[in-house]
Amino acid sequence: QKQQFDEQHRSQFHFTPPAGWMNDPNGMVYHKGEYHLFYQHNPDTTIWAPMHWGHAVSKDMIHWEHLPIALYPDSLGMIFSGSAVVDVNNTSGLGTKDNPALVAIYTYHNMEGERAGRTDFQTQGLAYSLDNGRSWQKHQANPVLKNPGIRDFRDPKVAWYEAGKKWIMTLAVADHISFYSSKNLLDWKLESDFGKGIGAHGGVWECPDLFKLPVEGSDQEKWVLLVSINPGGPNGGSATQYFIGDFDGSRFVMDRQFETTLKSKPVAEAGKGHEGIWLDYGRDNYAGVTWANVPEQDGRRLFMGWMSNWDYANVVPSEKWRSAMTIARTLSLENTPAGLRVVSKPVKELESYVAATNTLDAQTISDSLVLSDKFSAFDLSLELEPAAAGRDFAIELSNGRNQKVLVGYNASQNQYYIDRTNAGDHSFSDKFGGIQYGPRIVTDKSFNLRLVVDVASVELFADGGKTTMTAIYFPDEPFTTVRLVAAKGAYKLSSGKIVGLKSIWNP
Ligand code: FRU
Repeated sequence: QKQQFDEQHRSQFHFTPPAGWMNDPNGMVYHKGEYHLFYQHNPDTTIWAPMHWGHAVSKDMIHWEHLPIALYPDSLGMIFSGSAVVDVNNTSGLGTKDNPALVAIYTYHNMEGERAGRTDFQTQGLAYSLDNGRSWQKHQANPVLKNPGIRDFRDPKVAWYEAGKKWIMTLAVADHISFYSSKNLLDWKLESDFGKGIGAHGGVWECPDLFKLPVEGSDQEKWVLLVSINPGGPNGGSATQYFIGDFDGSRFVMDRQFETTLKSKPVAEAGKGHEGIWLDYGRDNYAGVTWANVPEQDGRRLFMGWMSNWDYANVVPSEKWRSAMTIARTLSLENTPAGLRVVSKPVKELESYVAATNTLDAQTISDSLVLSDKFSAFDLSLELEPAAAGRDFAIELSNGRNQKVLVGYNASQNQYYIDRTNAGDHSFSDKFGGIQYGPRIVTDKSFNLRLVVDVASVELFADGGKTTMTAIYFPDEPFTTVRLVAAKGAYKLSSGKIVGLKSIWNP
């Protein structure tokens, strides 16, 4: 299938499926020089289901080569989200030491079971590849993990736990996470549960991930547990919260300070958990997880999310395909005035896609300063210094059709925001327009901002990635005019640059 790169709203440097429907990223694994990306896919129409695993590979997580569909629905059900690992020690016996199997562990969603009113219609299945992911065999023992009778039982994220020489499966089970362990990827044992009444619970828990990260500037390491939830996100619909703590191969225990912060934010309904702490406060970063098997020398924890929201994903106005992924991001753990937090930054590989760089002159802003009017795909970095505390600013992206999106800072609430009220078509859903907010958590006087802008999306990395917001939009023409708006004399632009990015279709 040929992808049409000049179709309206088609991302120029974000991953999109050739045609058809896409949701969650799945099975992200690095193997023999390739980053694999599988994804929830319906190749036949642009709406959700029946679900397959689409497949693509990349050398840099930016430019992707599309491969044939990896997993098709079968008699056990549709293929829902899951993960992939390289079975380096051949624990499963499915490969050899010299040619270890790539193993995908995913959820089967059995439609007949669901229609018949059963509760055990989601189970975990396994498939493997001995040719670098080019062809896949489903295991004859499927499902390898049966359902104990809980409607929502899905999205296995499997990782090797070296200290205990075993595999850990982190699974979303309705309103909590269950950790299972296995010596061979085939027989699974329940270790523990986490999360009932803890964190945000406005919707069902989905697509978890569990990984260890060093705390920047210390010799400590902490475990991060990502949990997507739908609905119940901070700005409505789907979003991804996280927890920080320790994991001993059996149990996840939250950090004291993290727990205190969460408990200080109860939600109105008693027993319904807390306001979450979110990986991304924007409306359009969901179900993201991290790559497995990234070489130790590289050392990065690499993340990608689905750039949409279940509130409107099925009706956004792209004709032949639906949805894009976020830019690949590096996650790290940093101490902030709010406590330990996960910080997100675009991967450095993006810097190889520079088409042109404009350095901005230091200057005081009077009302509205045009920063650029030539790029529709760009990476903007700004350092802004307020004359005094308590001043607002906005970065306005606009086109010649009187459409714009504002990415700004509201000083009285100490919040960043993205306003897509007038960003183009939003007639398809009354949940799409409006303003979304994310807290500023640092106390620095100056503002460090990075915006990664494609024709249908903006990703804000504020304060070095300590607040992240991702939003999509559908203007009639791409936004090419970038303005900095602030009251006269309120802000000084101390440094900045705008980097026009190459289209990955045309490198
Ligand atoms: C998250 C999700 C997963 C499920 C998949 C189905 O967006 O609902 O929980 O596996 O999508 O497509």
